Amino acid sequence: MLMQQYNQILSRSGWAVPLAICCILSTLLIIAGIIILSLIPVYVTPKDINHNALSNKISFYTIYASDMIDGRSLTLSDTNDLSLQMEKNIARSNKMMSIKSLRFLPQAVSTRSKRQTSDSTIICEQNTGLTGDLFATNDEVQLSSTCHSSTCHQGHLEKSENTIRNNNNRITVNMKSTDNKTRSVNLAFCGFSTTDPYDRITSASKCTSETSTYVYLLDQDSNLFQFHPETFTVTFIAMINCSTTAYPYSMAIQRNGTAWVLFTDGSLYTFDVTNAQCQATTYVAEQEGLILFGMHFATDGSNNNEKLYLSSDSSNPPFRLATLDIDTLEISIIGYYETISARAELTGTNDGKLFGLFEGAPYIIAEINRTNGEILSKTSQDMIQYTSDSSNFAFTTYSSNFFLFVGDNSFTDIFIYNLSTKITTKTTRISNGIVGSAVSTCL
Ligand SMILES: *[C@@H]1O[C@H](CO)[C@@H](O)[C@H](O)[C@H]1NC(C)=O
Ligand SMILES: *[C@@H]1O[C@H](CO)[C@@H](O)[C@H](O)[C@H]1NC(C)=O
Ligand SMILES: *[C@@H]1O[C@H](CO)[C@@H](O)[C@H](O)[C@H]1NC(C)=O
Ligand SMILES: *[C@@H]1O[C@H](CO)[C@@H](O)[C@H](O)[C@H]1NC(C)=O
Ligand SMILES: *[C@@H]1O[C@H](CO)[C@@H](O)[C@H](O)[C@H]1NC(C)=O
Repeated sequence: MLMQQYNQILSRSGWAVPLAICCILSTLLIIAGIIILSLIPVYVTPKDINHNALSNKISFYTIYASDMIDGRSLTLSDTNDLSLQMEKNIARSNKMMSIKSLRFLPQAVSTRSKRQTSDSTIICEQNTGLTGDLFATNDEVQLSSTCHSSTCHQGHLEKSENTIRNNNNRITVNMKSTDNKTRSVNLAFCGFSTTDPYDRITSASKCTSETSTYVYLLDQDSNLFQFHPETFTVTFIAMINCSTTAYPYSMAIQRNGTAWVLFTDGSLYTFDVTNAQCQATTYVAEQEGLILFGMHFATDGSNNNEKLYLSSDSSNPPFRLATLDIDTLEISIIGYYETISARAELTGTNDGKLFGLFEGAPYIIAEINRTNGEILSKTSQDMIQYTSDSSNFAFTTYSSNFFLFVGDNSFTDIFIYNLSTKITTKTTRISNGIVGSAVSTCL
């Protein structure tokens, strides 16, 4: 019908109609063109503008090994002064280079072979012998205005990298941190990166700033606290609002900030440590005879795959080690403790070792084989003599120290056990009954 009308009009007026249509289309095209042109500035992002204006600069990252075991937990202050210390040797041969930012990375240098697949693993060019946390600087080189070509950029990049490799191969700097301490830290050149190595590490392991900094504590009234392992300060965050009237029994935390909490009625909940909002799980209680248990997320030390380990309580001996699959929420028994008969809270070290704090008079710290529950070593904590069953206790590692939280429902004493000296010291007493402590494998 429409086509017929069109043909009629066309036959009546010859070429006049196609010409008119053509004119209309051209006009529309011009209007569209004007609209598109007027929009272009909107689509040029600030990043593009910067890139054009700053094309005579190059930026890259230098990674150093350090001897600072827990650098990741420090908040550096006076970073300008630190940048100057790091630039000092470089400036002699390359005045156009400067350090824009610097920080510790939440990972130590990998001592493992290059076959390791995890893309977040950083292996140093040479064996530096420094086993603390990695440290990275963001370096910038100002190029002359005539250096436009990628060949010129590449040449300067290689020259700058060699300058760093040669001049900062081994340096000692003084680092100030927000706890008002100054530490002398040894750094050794490790490698370069075009992207920020911090993002590489944190995205692969899903650590958050919270789980890379704090230990979390929970008291019997469901109050959640941050515990700073450097200063021993305890900060109240919030009360978790799980829909049970039972008391919390134990807690463990995933690298991404999801905490798992078991209550004395055998129910299991999760909450996000940033907001303490509680969610029920579909976990079915009393699997494999485990009613209550201590728990801890641990890795095997070679990758970031964490597993939730459980240690059974006194209600159903013999005492044993198990895992809970956090996807299927099913418990599997790993093995029985042959030489200890007590309930335990679990924790682990960054190199993949699993430890239990076993209740008793005295308490015992034991290393447990993760694969079969075998007790590998036992250390009596003679200082810690509290009556069983009336006590709250919790257990956490931090670098080569263990924090032991022991008390009754009105107080908790906090002890440190130094793994290298095997000495236990009491630090402080707080007026809450701490029943759970959790440290992620990020810290
Ligand atoms: C560090 O020193 C400043 C100034 O002297 C002070 O205000 C601050 O409270 C100190 N911080 C700590 C953690 O001691
Ligand atoms: C906890 O509080 C949050 C926010 O108010 C709410 O969404 C959630 O349902 C509460 N959970 C329980 C178990 O009450
Ligand atoms: C952490 O990972 C678990 C999966 O293991 C996921 O269910 C949870 O929502 C994540 N938590 C956060 C805070 O992203
Ligand atoms: C743990 O047990 C497994 C299996 O028996 C064994 O291969 C491994 O060497 C043990 N680990 C330690 C640290 O003893
Ligand atoms: C543990 O002992 C070693 C060796 O004496 C010491 O260097 C380290 O600082 C101690 N750790 C703590 C937290 O006291």
